[in-house]
Amino acid sequence: MSEQKKTRWYKDAFVYQIYPRSFSDSNGDGIGDIPGIISKLDHLKDLGVDAVWLSPCYKSPNDDNGYDISDYRDIMDEFGTLDDWKNMIKGMHDRGIKLIMDLVVNHTSDEHQWFKESRQSKDNPYRDYYIWRKGKGKNGKKPPNNWTSRFGGSAWEYDATTEEWYLHLFTKKQPDLNWDNLKVRQEVIDICNYWFNLGVDGFRCDVITYISKAAGLPDGKFNLVVRGDEHFTHGPNIHEYLKQVNRESWSKYDTMIVGEAAGVTIDQALLYTAEDREEMDCAFQFEHYESNFWMHILPKKFDLRRIQKVFSRWQFGLMQKGWNALYLENHDQPRSLNSYTPGFEGHREEAAKMLAIAIFMQQGTPFMYQGEEIGMTNYPFRSYDECKDVVVQNIRKMLNPLDKIFEKTAMKLLSRVSRDNARTPMQWNASENAGFSSSEPWIKVNPNFTEINVEKDKENPSSILNFYKKLIAFRKGNETIIKGSFKENDPGNKEILCYERWYHGERLFVVCNFKNTEVNFRAPLDAAYLSCELALHNYGYDRPLLQSLVLRPYEAMVYVLK
Ligand code: NOJ
Repeated sequence: MSEQKKTRWYKDAFVYQIYPRSFSDSNGDGIGDIPGIISKLDHLKDLGVDAVWLSPCYKSPNDDNGYDISDYRDIMDEFGTLDDWKNMIKGMHDRGIKLIMDLVVNHTSDEHQWFKESRQSKDNPYRDYYIWRKGKGKNGKKPPNNWTSRFGGSAWEYDATTEEWYLHLFTKKQPDLNWDNLKVRQEVIDICNYWFNLGVDGFRCDVITYISKAAGLPDGKFNLVVRGDEHFTHGPNIHEYLKQVNRESWSKYDTMIVGEAAGVTIDQALLYTAEDREEMDCAFQFEHYESNFWMHILPKKFDLRRIQKVFSRWQFGLMQKGWNALYLENHDQPRSLNSYTPGFEGHREEAAKMLAIAIFMQQGTPFMYQGEEIGMTNYPFRSYDECKDVVVQNIRKMLNPLDKIFEKTAMKLLSRVSRDNARTPMQWNASENAGFSSSEPWIKVNPNFTEINVEKDKENPSSILNFYKKLIAFRKGNETIIKGSFKENDPGNKEILCYERWYHGERLFVVCNFKNTEVNFRAPLDAAYLSCELALHNYGYDRPLLQSLVLRPYEAMVYVLK
């Protein structure tokens, strides 16, 4: 195994997330695949991205679209072969693009060989790879505790063969691994090293904050929706376990390790990501997205002040001590235009470019999700049948048999939050199925594909795609963005997000109108009278920074002040 110095290349990298099922289908079965990804590598190169985060492409029965893995060392049949994968990583590396794989090791699929063995008998050598307990009540027919699955219902499933229950924090086909078992940790280390030896440059660690469960698995405190969190999020041994994986695998290569960390606070994020702690490099926090909802699902009226507070808190909180993962979209969240610029219709292009400026001039590693570069939007879901996501299908089952009465109302809510919004096929051109596939895709194509697609954006010099190219190029190597301090301006403003970045003599001034109407803006005196250069502008004409400006709908600028 080669020992390499950690260069922390991710601090100046722009990452692009691919959800392989929905990216590009090469063989006409309606499902995206690895040869499809290979055929689009020039798109990524052209955009200027430095790394790809690839959602799971391992063997899987697809109960949760690949987040249920049955073989960590091989490729899902629908996506191709290991040789295809090797061609893909070579194609990426040849173009100077790194590859970050998804590491899903809080749980496996119930079709993984380990679980098949584990469920056979109580003395099977793999029994202790998973979390098995006797049930409560007469005959043990009640779950061992009151924890709920993140996807609804009890987190326990009874297995008749050994008359015990196993824990699954997601679907019952995703049994949780027992990280307290040293052999499990060793398996994870071996899996990571296997992929590092094949050339991968890092991992995105799925629900990594759930891997250590409290001793005795006590009941969770009362909560109508989710129970048990306090006993498995940031659990008692998590740092010890991450340090071990880091020591025996991640630190031996020049990696980027980013953890998915729902519910993480700034103090906890520092424990996971401060460089001297030798655990991970950065973490996805969810506060800006969650601040738009009550109880994760009921939308609140959009209020810029909530988002602005979250952005500022994380910028100040990690400055000089940790590192942010910047993002507005991923495969689990609706499209950013719908979430952060409600009422964008009529100004879609300006709004998408404004959001890019608002998030990606901050400090941290930017992650963009497929389709964000052309301003893709939520799908107008109307019926349960159009939704493929296991979460929506679980809710449907729970509301059954009142299905017919509730479907319309439920869909009104679900269509805004459904993970399927991000999973509709990538819109490459205006031909049938948006150029994603030659046959009917596994999930519906957004009907707006004739208007919103890569081919169209390529031809238009002022498109979102071409704006992103400029933004990514401007960000590259820019020390003020990478290292500069952060300063918020006019923090309570309901309409305008305004912040500065400072590094030695240079100062970046960022102003973003979040309204779909004109808004008056007053620049700080000391900024307006400095010599300034317009670096990025989503309306694309010369726009001197005056002390008083009328900003157009969603207008956004980045100035370099000297
Ligand atoms: C988080 C992933 O992003 C999501 O898609 C998945 O369903 C859960 N983890 C379970 O693996």
